[in-house]
Amino acid sequence: LRIARTIAELALDYSQRIGFVPTMGAFHEGHLVLMREAKAHNDVVVASLFVNPTQFAGGEDFDTYPRDESRDFGLAESVGVDVMFAPGVDEIYPRNTTTVVPRGAAIKWEGERRPGHFEGVATVVLKLFNIVRPNTAYFGLKDFQQCAVLRQMVADLNIPVHLEFLETVREADGLAMSSRNVYLSAEERKVAPLLYRELESVGDAARRGDSIEEALAFSCERLVAAGFRIDYLEVVDANSLEPTRRFSAPARVVGAVWLGRTRLIDNLAV
Ligand code: PAF
Repeated sequence: LRIARTIAELALDYSQRIGFVPTMGAFHEGHLVLMREAKAHNDVVVASLFVNPTQFAGGEDFDTYPRDESRDFGLAESVGVDVMFAPGVDEIYPRNTTTVVPRGAAIKWEGERRPGHFEGVATVVLKLFNIVRPNTAYFGLKDFQQCAVLRQMVADLNIPVHLEFLETVREADGLAMSSRNVYLSAEERKVAPLLYRELESVGDAARRGDSIEEALAFSCERLVAAGFRIDYLEVVDANSLEPTRRFSAPARVVGAVWLGRTRLIDNLAV
C-alpha cells in the first residue's frame, strides 16, 4: 500500500483504469466490500481517508469521530487497495473554499436536520474526484440520501465519473454496519437492530398493499416503546427523496432515530 499525504504525491498513472473509494476511515466490512468491488473491476484502487470537517454540522462529532489510521491502512492493504490518499485538512482546504450547494435530493431528511452537511459532502467529493480523476467511484447505500445527492451532483455538473452504489452490510442481527456504532452502550447495541426490523416491516406492508400510514405509525410506536426517539421514518421516492405512496417507481423506506446520544440511520428498498 502506497500512502500519499499530498495531491502531488498521488502521481497516478492515467493509462490505467482507476477505481476510487472515498472514506472517512474507521473501516468496517461495509468499506472493505467497496474496496474489493473496486479491485475486481479496475487496474488500480485508490481509497481516500479524510475526516471531512465541512460535513459535520455544529455540535456534531467531528472531534470524537473514531480515528485509527494504522489499523485502517492494514485493512485497506489486506483487500488490495493500491494507493491510500490520506491528506491533512490544509491540503484539502488551504483557504475558505468555493462550495457545491446540492439541491433536489439534498433538501429533506438529513439535509434539514444537519445544516451544511450535504454541501460539505458534495464539495469534498467533487474535490476528491478532481484530485483522483477515477473512472469509477464506489459508495455504500447505508447513506442512501448521500448516494442520491451524489448521483444528482454528477448528472447536474456533468462530472465524468461512473458511480457504483453497493448494498449495506449488516451485522448478523440486522444492524447496519457504521463507524458510529462504537458509540452505542452494550444495552443500546442490543435494541439497535429493531430499526432494521421496523424498516422491513414497513417495506413488507408496502409490498402487500397495506396502508403505509398505519405501518409507519405502528413501527414508530414500537420503536418509541423500545426506547428510541424518532427523528424521521418515511417511504420516499428513491430518486427525488420525496415522500411517496406509489410504488411504480423505485421507493425506499428511510429512517433516522436516536438511541441515547447516538443517532442511527438506515434504509431499505421497498
Ligand atoms: O460516506 C462518507 O464516508 C463520506 O460522506 C464521504 C463520501 C467519504 C465524504 O467525506
